Amino acid sequence: MPDQKKIGIFDSGVGGISVLRVLLKELPAHDVIFVADQAHVPYGRRPLEEVQTFSFEITRWLLDRDCAEIIVACNTASAAALHELRAAFPQVPFVGMEPAVKPAAEQTRTGTVGVIATPATFQGALYASVIERFANHVTVLENTCPGLVEEIEAGHLRGAETRRILETALHPMLKKGIDTVVLGCTHFPLVIPLIQEITGPQVRVIDPAPAVARQAVRVFPGGNADLKRKRRVEAFTTGDPERLRTLVSLFIKEETIIRPLAWDAANHLEP
Ligand code: DGL
Repeated sequence: MPDQKKIGIFDSGVGGISVLRVLLKELPAHDVIFVADQAHVPYGRRPLEEVQTFSFEITRWLLDRDCAEIIVACNTASAAALHELRAAFPQVPFVGMEPAVKPAAEQTRTGTVGVIATPATFQGALYASVIERFANHVTVLENTCPGLVEEIEAGHLRGAETRRILETALHPMLKKGIDTVVLGCTHFPLVIPLIQEITGPQVRVIDPAPAVARQAVRVFPGGNADLKRKRRVEAFTTGDPERLRTLVSLFIKEETIIRPLAWDAANHLEP
């Protein structure tokens, strides 16, 4: 009898789609539930404690829906809560995000790499530890790209403002000789074509989603899916379902059921 274990995945918003799109290819038969907390996006300018509270509640909600593994498809939520989530739910495998400084530092030829991420991600202990472990011998330039998450949420993947924000962040880094850009926010891979246009083809842009999806497959706690049954992909948003639908339909080719989800006055999720 196949064991239909589900995978839970969440982000502050549409950034989770950059991980979800790869995950669906890597695990073609399991049910997946994605939560986009668009009522609270952006997470990146909030205190880490607040993001941790949201992350715990979304995790509980996903576990209540029989998810056997949780992917924290958000660098900011990973910075705020990954360590604490693993401690609170030791029986659950968690896969989180950390800026891919390691491969960048290993492969740079100029010795200078750029990282773009949210302010909260840069403030977190996770980022500090990544820099300490992997980036001693390289120069790391950082930028928070203010307003970029909001533009991507609005679906402005090639808009003038999106370009302006990215150019403001990347041009000074390019002048200083970066040959690699690490995307430290899951929203940013959704604008890779524009980023690559600005950097030129000689600069390597690192999207961590494939590595994260492969890790999610590696730690998935067993359970073969029934290959004869069509799997179910659901995307819940605490914001506007139409807004989520637009971006899901751009990036996810598999049928995805979009559903609303609400925070109640006590900061719990319903239904
Ligand atoms: N997608 C998120 C991340 O990876 C958060 C963006 C935000 O809500 O500020 O950091």
